Amino acid sequence: MESCNWVLKYVPFMLLVFFLSSFSTYSTPATTTTTTTTSSSSYSSLEVVISNTTAMHRNFTAISDFRLINRQSLKDCSASSPSLQINVTSSSKSGLLDDEFVTVTVSGVSTPSNDDWVAMISPSNSNVNTCLLNELYYLQTGDTAKLPLLCHYPVKAQMMNNDPDYLSCKKKQCKKYQNGKCTVTTCSGSIKFHVINIRSDIEFVFFSGGFLTPCMVGRSTPVKFSNPKKPLYGHLSSIDSTGTSMRLTWVSGDNQPQQIQYGDGKSATSVISTFSQNDMCSTIALPSPAKDFGWHDPGYIHSAVMTGLKPSSTFSYKYGSDEVGWSEKIQFSTPPAGGSDELRFIAFGDMGKTPLDDSKEHYIQPGALSVVKAITDYANSNNVNSIFHIGDISYATGFLAEWDYFLHLISPIASKLSYMTAIGNHERDYIGSGSEYVTPDSGGECGVPYETYFPMPTAAKDKPWYSIEQASIHFTIISTEHDFSQNSEQYQWMQKDMASVNRQKTPWLIFMGHRPMYTSYSGLLGVDQKFIAAVEPLLLKNKVDLVLFGHVHNYERTCSIYQGACKAMPKKDANGVDTYDNRNYTAPVHAVIGMAGFTLDNFSNNVNKWSLVRISQFGYLRAHATKTDLNLEFVVSNTKNVQDTFRITK
Ligand SMILES: [Fe+2]
Repeated sequence: MESCNWVLKYVPFMLLVFFLSSFSTYSTPATTTTTTTTSSSSYSSLEVVISNTTAMHRNFTAISDFRLINRQSLKDCSASSPSLQINVTSSSKSGLLDDEFVTVTVSGVSTPSNDDWVAMISPSNSNVNTCLLNELYYLQTGDTAKLPLLCHYPVKAQMMNNDPDYLSCKKKQCKKYQNGKCTVTTCSGSIKFHVINIRSDIEFVFFSGGFLTPCMVGRSTPVKFSNPKKPLYGHLSSIDSTGTSMRLTWVSGDNQPQQIQYGDGKSATSVISTFSQNDMCSTIALPSPAKDFGWHDPGYIHSAVMTGLKPSSTFSYKYGSDEVGWSEKIQFSTPPAGGSDELRFIAFGDMGKTPLDDSKEHYIQPGALSVVKAITDYANSNNVNSIFHIGDISYATGFLAEWDYFLHLISPIASKLSYMTAIGNHERDYIGSGSEYVTPDSGGECGVPYETYFPMPTAAKDKPWYSIEQASIHFTIISTEHDFSQNSEQYQWMQKDMASVNRQKTPWLIFMGHRPMYTSYSGLLGVDQKFIAAVEPLLLKNKVDLVLFGHVHNYERTCSIYQGACKAMPKKDANGVDTYDNRNYTAPVHAVIGMAGFTLDNFSNNVNKWSLVRISQFGYLRAHATKTDLNLEFVVSNTKNVQDTFRITK
């Protein structure tokens, strides 16, 4: 939500940016080295506006000093520690493993300081010395500091004082003796980085001066992955409602077709896609990280469909090729076919990723790790058929290496179950890109990486709405980031999709998207009345049972609600569980489930009548549906306790 607050708070600035971008003749550059041209008059007027906006950008894109790192003038401090050495120790002798903790040892430091830090930068030939001589290109954080800047954003970084012996110089080396006495002493320290295979080689760069006044002291020799082409991060999704076909999507540095080998001797060949910096969006007034300093080559995204499977069944597969290697053999389950009786699914929004080491990253979601672990533990020991992640997926937001870290995080569970997604503002929105909301929330990704990594059964590119049936449920999944007004293509689709549901076959209709219609979150932006006015009538008309949204980072459940008023209240069943009797349908029940990772939003003290349960803790929603009973539980990830239970009956 923080970005939304930003938008409202700084609407005048946004309007100016939008105005400038709308009237600019600028087209997005083919490469990051393109020099932007603009008239000096528009530059100076823009600079006047932006020069006082550092605080604003700190709120929005910065959050921490680390997020401004590429905005700082970069100085050379190599003379301060002339005998500096950076050694990287991997547990493998033949290059980095696909997933390991490496030890980075910095030795020869003349004066250890609290402000010393190490950046992990990839690829190793990234420009960390000088930037384009183009200040305008870097104005989005409001920093008009003189160049050069640190041009390529680190994948992650760590303070040297994470080694408790560093500042006290417990590990000393004598560099110079005089008359048998040591006259020059240097210090060293070691820190651990969690490294996963991101294909391009890595270097570790040692800086003094903290994140705000970085001064480069030295860099390691580049380290390579032992197999940059290794097929990795496989995740499954459904392609239709039959439960007989499953798509696997994975990442590799290899541009040759690979295979999935599955079942008893079947195989499917991958279709390969990728995206480039040219596919990222940007404007002259608000250049995006995706197109420039946040870019990282995604390699090749492979996708293949396994067919001829049985619904609600278990199979095994491996993916790769003899040339580049194979994944391990993985057991996976197909979801039940639409129209069958029982479904168990998990749903959440706004997850992102948490680093496994003590690093800073440009965007960290503190709850993601505990939620993924809780879901994985639960699914490994219980029958779960599918997962729905309804927007704000990785929060890479233009820092593309973070997609690999996110895929790595979810792969243990997403490689075993259908992992269906909806698009959120942090995947799609950018000024001037056609998104419904004029915010820079995707960092210039504009949905391209999302659609490539998570191909859903949608009709066309950048039309990320679809429906799918699993057992007794019809899921209608929309994009709140695309036009939903009554004349829009998406609205027409929603109308048709929900009207065509056979409620004998799938008695339950669940509607999902990213931004909510009802939330007690007291942030500045709140809900979009336009969205509610356009879409809520369709929910009532089509007797939607349950509406799930994210975007707000907490858990909240309503009464059966329409136009802000409770049309019915749940009654306690024999076990004291809130039960909504939809034999006498009145209106949908809404739940906000954006509590899967992003820093939690608190509730205000003003309680709306329609708000029945409010929990600000990390967790996920799990559901069990038969044809007559829909049971839902909100599970807190740290304790694994069920903190809310409700039922809808037919
Ligand atoms: Fe969001």
